[in-house]
Amino acid sequence: MVQINLPKNSEIQKGKYYKDKTGSKNLRKINVYRWDPSTGENPRIDTYEIDMDNCPSKVLDILNKIKNEIDPSLAYRRSCSHGVCGSCAMNMDGKNGLACTKPHSEIKGDINIYPLPHLKVLKDLIGDLSTLYKQYESVQPWLKTSKKTDKENLQSKEDRSKLDGLYECIMCACCSTACPSYWWNGDKYLGPAVLLQAYRWIVDSRDEDRKERLKKVADELKLYRCHTIMNCTNACPKGLNPAKAIAEIKKMLATSNV
Ligand code: SF4
Ligand code: F3S
Ligand code: FES
Repeated sequence: MVQINLPKNSEIQKGKYYKDKTGSKNLRKINVYRWDPSTGENPRIDTYEIDMDNCPSKVLDILNKIKNEIDPSLAYRRSCSHGVCGSCAMNMDGKNGLACTKPHSEIKGDINIYPLPHLKVLKDLIGDLSTLYKQYESVQPWLKTSKKTDKENLQSKEDRSKLDGLYECIMCACCSTACPSYWWNGDKYLGPAVLLQAYRWIVDSRDEDRKERLKKVADELKLYRCHTIMNCTNACPKGLNPAKAIAEIKKMLATSNV
C-alpha cells in the first residue's frame, strides 16, 4: 500500500486536546485534521484520547465515538458502514482507504486521520468531489443502445465476465486522490476512478457507443497523463486495478482506427 507523506508531528499546528474522562487504562491518541474554511481560521490537528475498551474495531467506529460522545462538531461522510457506498474514504495513517473497513488494530501508535489528499477541503475530513463527479458524468456512465425492448438485454457469460473487476467500483476516489498525475492535473486528467468507469462501459458488449466512447477519452490530457505510477491500484480498498483498465483503453486505442 502506498504511503503518502504527511507533515511531521512537529510541523502540524496543534489544536485542541481532548483528555479521556472515562478513566480507561486502554487509551489511544487519535489526531484528526480539522478545518472549517468558512471561519477564516487555519487548519489544525485536534487530539482525542479514546477508550479502546469500548470502541468497535474500525476507524469509522472511532470517529463515530468522537462525534457521539466527545465532539459533535467533527465533520466526515459516512453512510453504509459496510464498504459499499464509498462515502467514508479518507487518509488514515498516510494511506487512503475506507474508514468503515479499516481495522484500527492495523495502525500502530497514534492514529492520524486526514481528508483524501489534494482535494479542496469543505470541512474537516470532507473533500470536495464535485470536479470528479463532473468528470464521471462526462464519460456518460450508462448503457447506450438503440434496442427498444421490454425484455432483459442479455449478454453471454464470457462477455459478462469482462465486467468483473470493474462493476465493483464504488467511486470512493481513493485511487484518484492517490495519483500524482491527478494531484497536479486533476482539472483536465480524468484520473483512475473515472477512467476505470469509462472502460467499464467501453467493454460492455451491450453498449453500441464503443467507438465514440474511445474517441472521447483519446486525449493527451484526459487519458495520457497516466504515467503508470500504480498508486491507484495500490490504494483501491476494493482490490480493483484501475491502472490495468487504463492500460486496456490505451491498448484498444493503439490497435483500433479511432
Ligand atoms: Fe474506489 Fe477502487 Fe473505484 Fe478507485 S477503483 S474509485 S479506489 S473502488
Ligand atoms: Fe496515476 Fe494510476 Fe496512472 S497512479 S499515473 S492513474 S497508473
Ligand atoms: Fe459506506 Fe464506508 S460508510 S463505504
